[in-house]
Amino acid sequence: MSAILVAYASTGGSTREVAEFVATTLRDAGLEVVLKPVTEVPSLEGYGSVILGAPLYNTLLHTDARLFLNRNKVDFDGLKVAIFALGPVGKGDAGDFKGSQRQLDMELKRFPWIKPVALALFGGKMKATDAGFLLNKIFKPTPAVDYRDWDAIKAWAEALPEKIKD
Ligand SMILES: Cc1cc2nc3c(=O)[nH]c(=O)nc-3n(C[C@H](O)[C@H](O)[C@H](O)COP(=O)(O)O)c2cc1C
Repeated sequence: MSAILVAYASTGGSTREVAEFVATTLRDAGLEVVLKPVTEVPSLEGYGSVILGAPLYNTLLHTDARLFLNRNKVDFDGLKVAIFALGPVGKGDAGDFKGSQRQLDMELKRFPWIKPVALALFGGKMKATDAGFLLNKIFKPTPAVDYRDWDAIKAWAEALPEKIKD
């Protein structure tokens, strides 16, 4: 099997951690994996499959991920692609997941040349935000959350080899 590229976009580091976990899971299964931020992937040559990890920001996929998908448009031809997105924060309830799923579905429509063999949305992680003294009198600060479900991430990663094999 050709090398697998696990490429990620991440600002806060939570998607990078999931990408690292996915890469380790695939390596443990005996596969050759290259793990890189999308900004350090000049070409897809030599890879048989690509696992892309990207968080949602302001209803869109991370800018680096969108640039990556556009930049390599032609090169995706013939490659197996799997995508995981991180998103839901807030209460992390079904409503939050539904909203983020809708955003992800809308986003993927903008890249019709990508036909993922596996697609997942995982809960996101966010630091506590503090709006400052005055605004805190009006708005409650958002507490830190981490809704990444590592069991679900593990199960998804373990199912990948079967889906991406040549
Ligand atoms: C400024 C900001 C905007 C965000 N906008 C969205 C959004 O529109 N939809 C969503 O599902 N998650 C949104 N999130 C949650 C992020 O996707 C989540 O925190 C993710 O884990 C961040 O990934 P990173 O740590 O790899 O950058 C937002 C987070 C921040 C900080």
